[in-house]
Amino acid sequence: MPDDQDDVPIRVDHRDPATARAWLEDTRLRRPFRASFRAAFCAALAPNRQLRILELGSGPGELAREILLRCDVRSYVALDWSQAMHDIANEHLGDLANRVTFIVRDFREPTWPAGLGIFDAIVTQQAVHETRHRRHALPLFERARTLLAPGGVLLYCDGYLVDPEAKLAALVLERGDQPRVLERAGFVDVRLLHDEGNLALYRATNPR
Ligand SMILES: C[S@@+](CC[C@H](N)C(=O)[O-])C[C@H]1O[C@@H](n2cnc3c(N)ncnc32)[C@H](O)[C@@H]1O
Repeated sequence: MPDDQDDVPIRVDHRDPATARAWLEDTRLRRPFRASFRAAFCAALAPNRQLRILELGSGPGELAREILLRCDVRSYVALDWSQAMHDIANEHLGDLANRVTFIVRDFREPTWPAGLGIFDAIVTQQAVHETRHRRHALPLFERARTLLAPGGVLLYCDGYLVDPEAKLAALVLERGDQPRVLERAGFVDVRLLHDEGNLALYRATNPR
């Protein structure tokens, strides 16, 4: 998809294998609290059985690993546009990788949901801003909702705006807008589950 004029250009391209590995090392050092978010994702999914899960921007598979180990998962689709990230995820998951369907696809393309099937849960961590402008969050959520069964949930975690003067400010939503955009996309019962290190995790439900 061609960049819209005010989209923020990509500076860190996770499709490059060295960049993908460097990102993972850096984020493990700088954001150790991501483990608390993974625990919160799992706690939100744990009451459910035989989950069909889609992860958007699945990256190195850290979240997939926790969910596969701690939750009752029937199927797990990991979508990312980076084969390099899928390769890292394969290593990280070991035998668990056999339970994952890896899809290379660009979620900025309006047709990204085509043929993926129906899910009980869609999970995403630190990836929605990769649409390269906060205004793309709404269409991404709207399209994601078309893939959810009635009563299915979106677990959405991403950074929120802290410094409006920051260079990359246009990438992320304001904190108060994160739940509002989920509601505008048609989700109900939008709940904040965890907020730490300028990242927030929400659960949003597809109406029955
Ligand atoms: C900051 S990383 C986060 C990875 C993972 N969710 C995590 O938290 O460990 C962002 C991920 O989004 C993926 N990504 C970026 N742009 C994308 C796009 N247009 N379509 C699909 N995936 C994309 C990158 O390849 C990368 O794996």
